[in-house]
Amino acid sequence: MLNGKVIVLGVTGGIAAYKAATLCSRLVQRGADVHVIMTESAKQFIPELTLQTLTKNPVYSDTFDERDPSVVSHIHLADLADLVLIAPATANVIGKMAHGLADDMLTTTLLATTAPVMISPAMNVHMYTHPAVMANMETLVSRGVSMIEPGEGLLACGYVGKGRMEEPDTIVDVVERFFRERAQLVALNEEIASSTTGILHGKKVVVTAGGTIERIDPVRYITNDSSGKMGFAIAKAAKQLGADVHLIAAHTDEAPPEGIRTEKVESAQDMYEAVLRVFDHSDIVVKAAAVADYRPAEVATSKIKKRGETMTLDLVKTTDILESLGRQKTSQFLIGFAAETDTVEQFAREKLKRKNCDLIVANDVTQEGAGFRTDTNSVHIFDAEGLVLQLPVMSKEEVAQRLLTLAADRLSGRSS
Ligand code: PMT
Repeated sequence: MLNGKVIVLGVTGGIAAYKAATLCSRLVQRGADVHVIMTESAKQFIPELTLQTLTKNPVYSDTFDERDPSVVSHIHLADLADLVLIAPATANVIGKMAHGLADDMLTTTLLATTAPVMISPAMNVHMYTHPAVMANMETLVSRGVSMIEPGEGLLACGYVGKGRMEEPDTIVDVVERFFRERAQLVALNEEIASSTTGILHGKKVVVTAGGTIERIDPVRYITNDSSGKMGFAIAKAAKQLGADVHLIAAHTDEAPPEGIRTEKVESAQDMYEAVLRVFDHSDIVVKAAAVADYRPAEVATSKIKKRGETMTLDLVKTTDILESLGRQKTSQFLIGFAAETDTVEQFAREKLKRKNCDLIVANDVTQEGAGFRTDTNSVHIFDAEGLVLQLPVMSKEEVAQRLLTLAADRLSGRSS
């Protein structure tokens, strides 16, 4: 599995650094091309020459020790890496990584790399359970860094507890599993891509995205947390699947996807009018936008001045776009979203029925990695009969792909 894989191995200054020699040796034996970066303190525990001899590659520790004038070493290594593995990872390097510090060769390389990063912590048990270290590790995990949990036992400092760096053979197994799973995922995605190419060819897909803005006065408005990521991912996936896509985007954090006809709108009313203009000629409508249910009854023409201790805003209902489309639809396949914080299935199915949707995509927006602003989502998709598809946390692009594949399947079932 490791044949031809470039592993940048970061060795930091803890007693477990002595295990780096065995780790290098095992990785090299399994075919990896290992490039070691050591911190200055790691060199107190193990000589560079040992790791250089085992890897047959130069060992780096000084950012400014440029040996090849044609490249900048830390950028070169950062780009070369298929994986950056840090073993042992001290509390210090974990803290620096969490806070984006770059004051040596290893941490500058870590900031410059786009390769996956895996760390194998090793330290005293009290250091390991210190709230600061715990918080730093949580930060790293939330950014996608993989942890190889330390083992429990007698530590070099004399304590018994958690903090012992995992054994080199186990680390190598974890690394191999990582590459194996990645290869499987790539193969699966390629298979899905080839089996779904063009399945929406000739179909007109309308997607709404983002959060509507309901003006209070010229400088204030009511909106919500939608970033537009989910809707944009659906628009992109629809295009990849061959559809003619019309994207209607309210307020978003992101730039709209390139190469897709995008109409910018502000309020729920604007969105309603924009959707109605294209509805008759559409085959699939996906309402991923977060639309305000209420808007201010009056929009002040000049900035409202501060007066009493309290202020009351009169709100009136907006048009429920999806419900209106549900009443008007002829052959259109209608997909709604339901952003829920509790009783997810019940509310989602109630919306599906009331808004006459063909599918409803329920996301529990309180769940980690799901809902507003995140790059990932986790959804349950229902039709009138019940649950059709349950997707664990995955990228919004993958959710979009799976949702549209399902919609295309249902549409083709209708026409046959
Ligand atoms: O944009 P992101 O940051 O990526 O976040 C994605 C998301 C959480 C916004 C998205 O996944 C999502 O759940 N979108 C729907 C949010 C929402 O408004 O849910 P709702 O349960 O309030 O509305 C149900 C459905 O009715 C939605 O399809 C909505 O577009 C539609 N609706 C609601 C009110 C209204 N006046 N008109 C509508 O068409």
